[in-house]
Amino acid sequence: MLEQIRQTADFLSERITGKMPEIAIILGTGLGPIVDYIEEAQYIPYAEIPNFPISTVEGHSGNLIFGKMGGKRVMAMQGRFHYYEGYDMKQVTFPVRVMQALGIKTLLVSNAAGGMNKDFKVGDVMVITDHINLFPENPLRGHNYNELGTRFPSMTEAYCQEYIDKAFEIARRLDMRLVHGVYVGTPGPTFETRAEYEYFRIIGGDAVGMSTVPEVIVANHAGMKVFGLSVITDLGGKDIKIAPSHEEVQQAAVTAQPTTVTLITEMVKAI
Ligand code: HPA
Repeated sequence: MLEQIRQTADFLSERITGKMPEIAIILGTGLGPIVDYIEEAQYIPYAEIPNFPISTVEGHSGNLIFGKMGGKRVMAMQGRFHYYEGYDMKQVTFPVRVMQALGIKTLLVSNAAGGMNKDFKVGDVMVITDHINLFPENPLRGHNYNELGTRFPSMTEAYCQEYIDKAFEIARRLDMRLVHGVYVGTPGPTFETRAEYEYFRIIGGDAVGMSTVPEVIVANHAGMKVFGLSVITDLGGKDIKIAPSHEEVQQAAVTAQPTTVTLITEMVKAI
């Protein structure tokens, strides 16, 4: 694994024309178009990157983009690798290991999620304050490479409190509605039953989705500071009658784009 990480990082270092970024952004469902706000963008399709899996789901085009946002150098992943696609946890989190090898210190993650919190509305943007890992496997299971991180990493501040505070300062300044909560990570690909949404709410979840948790675990292992956002694309619970479709999820994520774009660019500036 170490050899593969090095090979991919070396490939990217040689390909990148600008300076190496310290901030990486993972763009979730429907959020890919945010890359239009990256200046001097250099696109590298996943298919050209050695050892990178290929993203298979509609609505997730696969590119790494290097460029500038809010005056800072960034790298963005347009499309991520989901556990439900059949990748194992090492593949799902491989890009985060490559980021680590490239010297990335901050990871901004975004996703589409179903809301269980009764105060949430479709189109809300939720700052992730914490998560509950319900994936059947932890990405750190197996041999621990001490070069990459410690055997038993702490997850008590998996999402950097300073960044959470900054996000709310930005929201106040720009008069944006911003909510916060706990993200429940599930393997998918089924959306939840009504009883499952209810269960996730009772155990302390505010939103549920099929990604993010593996990448955030590895980013913490790698010593990165993490900021996470969920776009609430549908609502689940025992009183909700309509099941979400993938199209509705994508559409709602697109509708929330002005808020997510502003927040992500302002966060990059503030970091
Ligand atoms: N459940 C799981 N994943 C999701 C949902 C949901 O309701 N909405 C968007 N991603």
